[in-house]
Amino acid sequence: MKGIILAGGLGSRLAPLTRITNKHLLPVYDKPMIYYPIETLINAGITDIMIVTGGNHAGDFLRLMGNGKDFGLKHLNYTYQEGEGGIADALSLAEYFADGESICVVLGDNIIERNIIKAVRDFEEQKRGAKIMLKEVPDPERFGVAEITDGRLVNIIEKPKNPRSNLAVIGIYLYDATVFDIVKTLKPSERGELEITDVNNAYVGNGTMTWEMLEGWWTDAGTFESLLRASMLVSQTGANNVAPGEKL
Ligand code: G1P
Repeated sequence: MKGIILAGGLGSRLAPLTRITNKHLLPVYDKPMIYYPIETLINAGITDIMIVTGGNHAGDFLRLMGNGKDFGLKHLNYTYQEGEGGIADALSLAEYFADGESICVVLGDNIIERNIIKAVRDFEEQKRGAKIMLKEVPDPERFGVAEITDGRLVNIIEKPKNPRSNLAVIGIYLYDATVFDIVKTLKPSERGELEITDVNNAYVGNGTMTWEMLEGWWTDAGTFESLLRASMLVSQTGANNVAPGEKL
């Protein structure tokens, strides 16, 4: 399985912090934000990783991380997103890199307390389709929200005004290689972007989407409140923790 980290976007919700750097290079407690999703993938045994970025500060990713020595990697892959086409548009740039394999996509501002080892293992057994992870949150209207009936995932609604559950779809997604065909069928949403929620709903519609609850805390870091919360949480418990029994 290959790993893809989406680290583009303007980070406009964090202006003026993002005027002179990319959001994913801002500090979360004692490390640049982008370090956390990289560790999430490596903990799950995924070491062939591509970072998709864009904007005016893309070169700083290379200066910061190079070939990934800080993470024990020998090589990191990078690609450049022109414009602001959204998460699913950024994902489409990784088709050549994925080369027919399954992928684990992590949004570059998503940070977790624990790990995704079990979900990745389960998805390897599932072989086709997709898997998402859900987390109960107090403010579901900020996220993609899962509608679950009798234990079945029936729909995902992006930032609903009246959420039907408190289950946010976190920004870590497992896909088979058909994801790139799905992305090609998408139309831009009202915010002018290709939405990852539309990708996920395509899998829900063809009956190949599974889901798991994420253990431990999860946060994004794309607003002032969540950026501060991310630093607080990481300082209290650390991120990407792996218990001895969970090792691969
Ligand atoms: C994106 C997705 C949303 C998901 C969230 C997780 O939202 O569109 O479905 O719940 O990431 O961080 P965005 O941060 O682009 O508003």
